[in-house]
Amino acid sequence: MACHFLKLSDFSGDTLRHILERAKTIKKGLYAGERYEPFKGKVLIMVFEKASTRTRVSFETGFYQLGGNVINLQSQGSQIGRSESIADTARVISRMGDLIMMRTFGQDRLLEMANNSRVPVINGLTNEYHPVQILADIETYEEHCGPITGKTVAWVGDANNMSYSWIEAAKLLGFTLNFSAPKGYELDPALTLAGDHLKIFDDPIECCRGADLVTTDVWTSMGYEEENAKRREAFAKWQVNAECMAVANPGALFMHCLPAHRGEEVTADVIDGPQSVVWDEAENRLHAQKAIMEYCLLGKVE
Ligand code: CP
Ligand code: NVA
Repeated sequence: MACHFLKLSDFSGDTLRHILERAKTIKKGLYAGERYEPFKGKVLIMVFEKASTRTRVSFETGFYQLGGNVINLQSQGSQIGRSESIADTARVISRMGDLIMMRTFGQDRLLEMANNSRVPVINGLTNEYHPVQILADIETYEEHCGPITGKTVAWVGDANNMSYSWIEAAKLLGFTLNFSAPKGYELDPALTLAGDHLKIFDDPIECCRGADLVTTDVWTSMGYEEENAKRREAFAKWQVNAECMAVANPGALFMHCLPAHRGEEVTADVIDGPQSVVWDEAENRLHAQKAIMEYCLLGKVE
């Protein structure tokens, strides 16, 4: 059964758990030198309307390692950049490729792709969600510290795509998400799954107290660059630094989806320090996304 992967809350906690366990198994297999090529003869088409390093390289490498081939389409250089609609683009490319990964602005553009595609579409980041990154992050947490269920993750910073996907994951996988953002940058209730998995803090330090994982992201996400100067001022206190890590649980991890701005949302001593697992986190994009692509094309592989 082929399916889209547009946001985490489209799935049950059990399905996300299945994908996470497959990610770990597929990673082990790769490290053991096993060949696993279920996508021989298949083509992944990637559509980027925003910049990327990790998403581009991890999806492309992953699909090649699973036996398939990849086409990379950027808005500049394709007819999307000359106003061909997403719907028409979907109708055309889904007659050729077997799977589409799209990075775009509003979730509505991703839905337009999915609703007009004959093949599964994966969210490679929208303004609202970054679900593939969150599965890689949880895989990373569990590799280092065991099951995330019952733990506390502290989010310090913008109410952005990463934070909304973290909140969804908390509800579905049974952990607590502590959230702190400056006034004027609070969560949009329309995107926030309500429930006791989410705790809101005015003070970023209190947000980190007792956390098992502290995480943040850029103050200004792609698409919001004109707000940069204003955000720099507003977010100055929402920086993950040694004080945040000191009030977190002993052994707490630090994560950042990257790219990072040292001296803004995180200090260099934290991101380059012993509690940081950002390079494992970046690598796990490869493994988690292989499991997501497998699920989208082949369903639950046991
Ligand atoms: N974290 C992440 O998605 O990185 P890129 O923007 O480089 O793809
Ligand atoms: N929130 C960031 C994540 C980048 C991977 C952005 O959307 O730009």
